[in-house]
Amino acid sequence: MTTSHEKIVIRQPDDWHVHLRDGSLLDGVALSTARIFRRAIVMPNLQPPIISVESAIKYRKRILDALPKGVDFIPLMTAYLTEDLSPGVLERGHREGVFTAAKLYPANSTTNSSEGVRDIRAIDSLLETMERIDMPLLIHGEVTDPEIDIFDREEVFIDKCLSPLLTRHPALRVVLEHITTLQAVQFVESSSEMVAATITPHHLHVNRNALFKGGLRSDFYCLPVAKRELHRLALRQAATSGKKCFFLGTDSAPHRRVDKESSCGCAGIFNAKFALESYAEVFDDEGALHHLEAFASINGPSFYGMPLNNTPMTLVRRSQVVPQTFQITSELNRKEYLVPFHAGETLQWSVVLDEKDSKTVS
Ligand code: NCD
Ligand code: ZN
Repeated sequence: MTTSHEKIVIRQPDDWHVHLRDGSLLDGVALSTARIFRRAIVMPNLQPPIISVESAIKYRKRILDALPKGVDFIPLMTAYLTEDLSPGVLERGHREGVFTAAKLYPANSTTNSSEGVRDIRAIDSLLETMERIDMPLLIHGEVTDPEIDIFDREEVFIDKCLSPLLTRHPALRVVLEHITTLQAVQFVESSSEMVAATITPHHLHVNRNALFKGGLRSDFYCLPVAKRELHRLALRQAATSGKKCFFLGTDSAPHRRVDKESSCGCAGIFNAKFALESYAEVFDDEGALHHLEAFASINGPSFYGMPLNNTPMTLVRRSQVVPQTFQITSELNRKEYLVPFHAGETLQWSVVLDEKDSKTVS
């Protein structure tokens, strides 16, 4: 890695948490991720969800088909855990190199999670299998009890569900996805090396005020919902610390503008287009550009036991304005729109893609 005040060269990054969707939405967003990231953990919360090896293979092909020829991108597929899934399916999918990991969605915790897990104890045999074959468990860490305040659901999940789960399965490799609280940061830091967390760009940039700035702002609504400022500051410290247990996961989660701007708008922020620049700005503001490569390109593959990427990626200090919307074409050939994170804002860093192909990083 080389850094100066004006330019930074890092190993090409990976995205350890992304929603690429399907159909015309997939066609509209796939390249946003694949032009920057070499690999990405692709979330399985489609409708219907990815619960078989065969459906994951087909979905992986649809992702690759959605990209222009010659784009070097590896989608890493995940299985959607249900109480009915058989351990044999997970084991076969993992052995055959189809399932990199499996995702635990508490039922009704987020988008397309109604077929998720109601009682975590009911998937103990799946978790035992995953522990034995060293298959990572990726967790949406929120309780769903409507009695629990939405801003407390991650903290309560850690106490009531995650902590006991790790006691039952001490050798299980676990990623607590898209953490949003100081409590999650502290929990991951004090856990064993088997526990890590992803952190999104949006939770590093905004706190919960963003949701209500001048009116109801659905573009900032995602789950887990952004928390108070003290939590954002804790996340910024964690992400920029260089610590091995924190790595990049954008949670880019596109929804059509009409689905976000409705009386019951969908949760999810589309950030894939400018995610790396968005992270770079945070690291720069925190005086930690020298840790960007660890967070974006080293800690993730190290945790997953995968090789580091060797292709360099260059960012330069050159400002750019993020468009207000992106247009995609629907199945019926109609124009549809996505609103990106940072819409209308000026970002200070830009990725230089031309230099990507040439050299390798020593
Ligand atoms: C994600 C989605 O839309 O698929 N939404 C979100 O708000 N993050 C699901 C998820 O990761 O919770
Ligand atoms: Zn997600």
